[in-house]
Amino acid sequence: MNEQGTKDQTVSGHPSPGGERPVYILAVETSCDETSVSIVRDGQEILANVVSSQIETHQRFGGVVPEVASRKHVESITWILAEALEKAGLRPDQLSAVAVTQGPGLVGSLLVGMVAAKAFACAMELPLIGVHHIAGHIYANQLVHQLKYPLMALVVSGGHTELVFVESEGRFRIIGQTRDDAAGEAYDKVARALKLPYPGGPHIDRLAHEATEAVTLPRAWLEPDSYDFSFSGLKSAVLAVLNQAGMKGIALEPSAVARGFQDSVIDVLVEKSLRAVEAFGAKQLLLAGGVAANKGLRARLEARCAEAGVPLLAPPLSLCTDNAAMIAAAAFLKYRRGQFAPFDMKAEPLLKLEAWSV
Ligand SMILES: Nc1ncnc2c1ncn2[C@@H]1O[C@H](COP(=O)(O)OP(=O)(O)OP(=O)(O)O)[C@@H](O)[C@H]1O
Ligand SMILES: [Mg+2]
Repeated sequence: MNEQGTKDQTVSGHPSPGGERPVYILAVETSCDETSVSIVRDGQEILANVVSSQIETHQRFGGVVPEVASRKHVESITWILAEALEKAGLRPDQLSAVAVTQGPGLVGSLLVGMVAAKAFACAMELPLIGVHHIAGHIYANQLVHQLKYPLMALVVSGGHTELVFVESEGRFRIIGQTRDDAAGEAYDKVARALKLPYPGGPHIDRLAHEATEAVTLPRAWLEPDSYDFSFSGLKSAVLAVLNQAGMKGIALEPSAVARGFQDSVIDVLVEKSLRAVEAFGAKQLLLAGGVAANKGLRARLEARCAEAGVPLLAPPLSLCTDNAAMIAAAAFLKYRRGQFAPFDMKAEPLLKLEAWSV
């Protein structure tokens, strides 16, 4: 047994890890509100990446409704699995393994992917690999870049904001994380206050770019040596500015609020990331998670990394938000080491990244 509680085993009848035959991993991702199945060759080449988003369903509620999300996953998972196989032009017996997001995420959503992946792997007699969702976001970069270790990853998503030091392939250490809201969560909450649709991140990003002025808002630097983040104070500051303007009858430009908020988030994310890269001697800075799609964040990181002579790696926008290709990319690390999961693997809504290390 390894730290994750999964069994290390090799499976006869399939390409041996590190062997010369191509490795085709079919991966399933259902941790939140995207149902996705992908097939990736050798951890790098995407043959199919089918993503079905439930955003339209959840939009009218202003956020993801967990019960609705699970039901939608049940409705679509088998169709999406069939579509991925068809797009990749592969038969199930040509696959090497089945990977699935084990956690973290919404338990009802994770369970649907877990049951689908287990049933498929069992029927096809394929080995099973459980994947940490954030390892997936980080290794989305491997689908488009050559990684060099040690590296630093800035993970900014709907549920996480973390600086992760990756000393060698698949070995993670969280050196800083949010003490309250995740960056994406703060974007979505501020967007709601500005009456923008869910998810709010892309709308704030767009408004911030159109802005001609910016509302002044605080930066949460925390203790001088800390790599942690905090965004709930900033969110409260935005709400206070909007309330005060409302009481005084002043019409605040939403773009000025969006710009002020985005500037504050970016300042802290960028400066802490660069400080971490230098302190840990990282060879690359990786950007990961849904908020990595943010144009302002990318532009500022590019400029600061160029100044500091640090290569910045970021996935294309389609691989920033949830998708199963990133789960297949991370699963390949375990496949090569023969670290397969038992068929009684559980969905773990609070799975720890460090515990998932290879
Ligand atoms: N251009 C953008 N600017 C800022 N935020 C964005 C942008 N595009 C997407 N986001 C935000 O990214 C988040 C979704 O990212 P992602 O799909 O990685 O999160 P998640 O899967 O819900 O959370 P986690 O990965 O932590 O479980 C949302 O909060 C959304 O508002
Ligand atoms: Mg995600």
